[in-house]
Amino acid sequence: MPLTTTMVRRGWVLALPLALLVLGVSLSAEGVDVGEGASIFGAQCAACHQATGEGLPGVFPPLADHVHELIAAEGGRPYPILVVLYGLQGPITVNGNAYDSLMPPFGHLTDEEISDVLNYVMTAWGDAARLEEEFEPYAPAEVAAERDRALNAMEVHEFRSTLALD
Ligand code: HEC
Repeated sequence: MPLTTTMVRRGWVLALPLALLVLGVSLSAEGVDVGEGASIFGAQCAACHQATGEGLPGVFPPLADHVHELIAAEGGRPYPILVVLYGLQGPITVNGNAYDSLMPPFGHLTDEEISDVLNYVMTAWGDAARLEEEFEPYAPAEVAAERDRALNAMEVHEFRSTLALD
């Protein structure tokens, strides 16, 4: 069978994602390397925040179309790291819905797993693109730097109240 242009093209279409997979690179639509972020989200976060990132109104807050506001707030960049490391407890309002619940800490995940999952959360539903400035992906070293704070879930809530959120 002669090798047609279509066959060669098809070959590339299949080979490129495979090559990225082999290299362990998983790029979001914005070109951010989210590593294992998608599967970590599926395993650790989706039970509450849902695979769509939309949460459950009044029970689990949405992350989709919301996390960009958290990091756009002045001083807000470390906040999502703190939530994942130490959990969150206390009343919050997100998109007009009130939540007063508890998110457990995920400090047992590695620095890289946490930066991967946050990069996934920031890009999976278009939040990075909603930022005024280009999104700078989280790095494992930024997560490592926040481990020294050793906060509890209520102190993370206090940190949140220092951010100018709607
Ligand atoms: C057991 C359910 C549960 C799981 C699992 C969970 N969360 Fe949460 N998450 C919550 C709840 C509940 C809140 C709000 C807590 C409150 O009311 O103070 C929250 C809040 C958040 C917030 C802060 C939202 C804001 O406006 O302050 C972020 C960011 C977040 N979660 C990310 C994640 C990520 C990433 C994961 C996976 C590593 C995850 N969550 C896993 C229940 C969960």
